[in-house]
Amino acid sequence: MLPLPASAQARLIAALDTTETAQAVSWARALAGRVGLVKVGMEFFTARGPEGFAAVAACGAPMFLDMKFHDIPNTVAGGVRAAALLGASMVTLHASGGPAMMAAAREAAQAGARAAGKPRPMLLAVTVLTSLSAEDMEAVGQPDSPTTQVVRLARLAAEAGIDAIVCSPHEIGAIRAALGRRVALVVPGIRPAGSAMGDQKRATTPGEAVRAGADWLVMGRPLTQAADPAAAAAAIAAEVAGASAAVA
Ligand code: C5P
Repeated sequence: MLPLPASAQARLIAALDTTETAQAVSWARALAGRVGLVKVGMEFFTARGPEGFAAVAACGAPMFLDMKFHDIPNTVAGGVRAAALLGASMVTLHASGGPAMMAAAREAAQAGARAAGKPRPMLLAVTVLTSLSAEDMEAVGQPDSPTTQVVRLARLAAEAGIDAIVCSPHEIGAIRAALGRRVALVVPGIRPAGSAMGDQKRATTPGEAVRAGADWLVMGRPLTQAADPAAAAAAIAAEVAGASAAVA
C-alpha cells in the first residue's frame, strides 16, 4: 500500500463537482494547500477534458481523476495510462470489472507514470455504488447483501494490487474486519456537524469517519458551498486532527 497522508489536512479531498473550468479553478485556488487533493470526475472531464484538468492542476493541489473506469482490461489500461500521463495522483475504477481488469490497470499506472516521469497514481476501487439498494442488486443478478458484495469486491481489489477502496462510512468496519490495513479507505458521504445534508441521506461527521478507520475523506458541498472554503477546510482538518489523536 502507498504511504498514508501525513497530516490531517492531507487527508481531505475536495470534490469539485461542476462542468465549468472557471468555477473549478476558483475552488481549487481557494483550497490548494488546505486539502490533500482535489477531485474532478466524469462530469467535469467530459465537459472540459485534459485542458480543464490542466487548468485545475495548475492551481497546485494534487489531482484525483474520478472516472470510475469499467471496461475490458485493454481499454481500462489505456484510460489509466492516459490518466497517469496527465499527472493524476488518484484514479478510480470498478472492482466488478474483475481481477484481470484491475491487474491491467495496475500495470498501466506503473508504465504511464514511468513514461511521464511522475509518481504512480494510486488506484482506488469502487465496490457497490451506494445508490444501489438490495432490490437493485437483486435485479442485476446479485442476490447477496450489499455488505457481502462490498467485502467480496474489496478483497478481490486488494488481491489485484489496488491501493484503496472507496466506501461509505457504514462499510468501513466490515472492510477493515475482513482486510485489516491491506487497503486504504477513501470515504465520501461526510458532513461536518450542523452542515446541510444535500442528497446524502446517511452522512457521518469527519471525526466519526476517522474514528471508524477512514484514511481519506471526500467532501464536496461542505467545502465548495461554504462562504469561506479555506476556513471550512481548516475547521474540518482541526476536527480530523483531534479524532486522529484520539485514535492513535
Ligand atoms: O457534495 P458531497 O460532499 O455530497 O460530494 C461527495 C462527492 O463524493 C461527490 O463527488 C460524489 O460523486 C462522491 N461520492 C459520493 N458517494 C459515493 C461515492 C462518491 O458522494 N458513494
